[in-house]
Amino acid sequence: MEEARFEIPLFRPYQKLVHISIQGKPFSVPENNLLLRCFQFLCPDTIPYGRYCWNEECQYCRVSVTKPDGKKVTQALSCKLMIEEGLQVHELSEELTWNLRRLFSSNPEEDSLNNPS
Ligand code: FES
Repeated sequence: MEEARFEIPLFRPYQKLVHISIQGKPFSVPENNLLLRCFQFLCPDTIPYGRYCWNEECQYCRVSVTKPDGKKVTQALSCKLMIEEGLQVHELSEELTWNLRRLFSSNPEEDSLNNPS
């Protein structure tokens, strides 16, 4: 007897990628998604293993950002923050810094280990 499975999509529906920057480096991520989910889009091998509650409780996902309208937010939760075209992410929590380290690695060997092609 076959077991019924219900697939829950990881990302909210999107038609295109939008541009954001993380610590000055440009990235393209799916529109209509929360910033933490976009971090997962960029680093699918590490973000799922972080200690994130995804529910505004643990605080491990803290970031500081500048929104496209120029407004700075110093204590944003990436599990709650919807991305926008032009969003700039400045500071990352320690947990995010560790999980996103591949994005900023200058060691190609480490990159290839984490992203075999
Ligand atoms: S993931 Fe826990 S507060 Fe955002």
